[in-house]
Amino acid sequence: MNHHQAPILEAIAQYLELDHAPFYMPGHKRGVGIDPEFMALLGENLFRLDLPELPNLDESITKAEELAADAYGSDCTWFLVNGSTSGIAAMMLAVVGIGDKILMGRNCHKAAIAGLVLCGATPIYLETDYNSEFDLDCGVTPSTLQAVLEANPDVKAVMLVSPNYFGVCGELKELVAIAHSFNIPILIDAAHGGHLRFHPDLPIDALTAGADVVVHSIHKMGSSLTQTAMLHIQGTRVSSDRLDQAVQMLQSTSPNILLLASLDVARRQMVLQGQELLQTTIALSNYGRSQINQISNLHCLDHIPNLDPTRLTVMVNQLGKTGFDVDEIFYQDLGVMAELPTLSQLVFVVSIGNTAADVDRLILAFQNLANQKRKKTLPIPPIPKMPKANLKLTPREAFFSPNCAMSLESASGRICTELISPYPPGIPIICPGEEISLEVIDFLKLIKDAGGVINGCSDRTMATIKVVI
Ligand SMILES: Cc1ncc(COP(=O)(O)O)c(C=O)c1O
Repeated sequence: MNHHQAPILEAIAQYLELDHAPFYMPGHKRGVGIDPEFMALLGENLFRLDLPELPNLDESITKAEELAADAYGSDCTWFLVNGSTSGIAAMMLAVVGIGDKILMGRNCHKAAIAGLVLCGATPIYLETDYNSEFDLDCGVTPSTLQAVLEANPDVKAVMLVSPNYFGVCGELKELVAIAHSFNIPILIDAAHGGHLRFHPDLPIDALTAGADVVVHSIHKMGSSLTQTAMLHIQGTRVSSDRLDQAVQMLQSTSPNILLLASLDVARRQMVLQGQELLQTTIALSNYGRSQINQISNLHCLDHIPNLDPTRLTVMVNQLGKTGFDVDEIFYQDLGVMAELPTLSQLVFVVSIGNTAADVDRLILAFQNLANQKRKKTLPIPPIPKMPKANLKLTPREAFFSPNCAMSLESASGRICTELISPYPPGIPIICPGEEISLEVIDFLKLIKDAGGVINGCSDRTMATIKVVI
């Protein structure tokens, strides 16, 4: 296919000069009715091109999705305007319903738990591998998947995350082969993996590994606008019609054409220039890693098999500070903003939009931090592993159960109805249907007291939590 084309971009460009009286939505009518301050900030063209599905635009979306399918190696691709979040729910709705079992890593994003509430399936959570040196979840291993599939032959689907927030991709090819040896479809949340296909030094991407359905947040590692994602299908284990139905149910009937155009041009960019751009990105990230590793008391995540080298994770706990502390200092004093702080780490997303100057600034910030006169700091206590989930009801049953708020302190032993996660990374600590243990209560308090942002709790102070009555 001719990847120099960008059908949506070309179609909207024609509307820029078209003289017409607009009696369609959106109501601002090509910017005429827009707030002037907003217009001055963002520029006229943005509003002139905020168009609904006018003649030719529909056709251009279909063409752009076909080009994307060709670029990513799928049989069919959907452009999404509500992120991987909607793609994850759609793929779950396409394969499982009430009473069906789905195998999932408990390291999944909260969107997958929301997907369980929507589809009503029963999750069987797979143990994930934990690397204590890096306080790192390394995902589901092939031997775990094999054993759990042998013990649960009635499972309808497997869903895994690869790469995770730290760039750990796991043994994807082996995992896919195992699921397929049981003739079970495997769905991959590859929200962080939309770039992998376009450089040979990056870990294998989920579609090349053979996964049946894959979702990519192109806005995370590509250059499309925030909220945009692509959902891909290949093979016949999952019905393409059913997936399409699920996408139609979850997607807005008025997807923003500018968001869709940004996916179209991000595909063109990756196909035509991806390897060259990613070569620079990988080199920048490797340079940052090697320099930061030379600073005393700091070390970067490295030597993990199948690690995306563009993701830069720095262990800061040896400084006697949490990742939350360092994040605050970087933001307030050193002009560097990280993607994700945790108790022990800071994660930096290095992508095609970063420059050598950005990475130099990052290295300098760490050097300044390491040179700061250290106040007497208490050593960071060992970081507890995330508590194990104890599922009592399906997430859907719990979500729809009568519930009441009770004090967090006294909620031990009760069944939670909320989906509570530190954000980012959005991996839930407790989900609807799980028993609230003392470990969960302590873990939530630990993250909150360390300055982490926790979302999903209806009581923002987290003094109370909602439980099944
Ligand atoms: C692993 C994972 N899956 C899914 C999502 C949701 O992606 P989106 O923000 O595109 O909806 C995220 C967001 O951070 C994520 O980290």
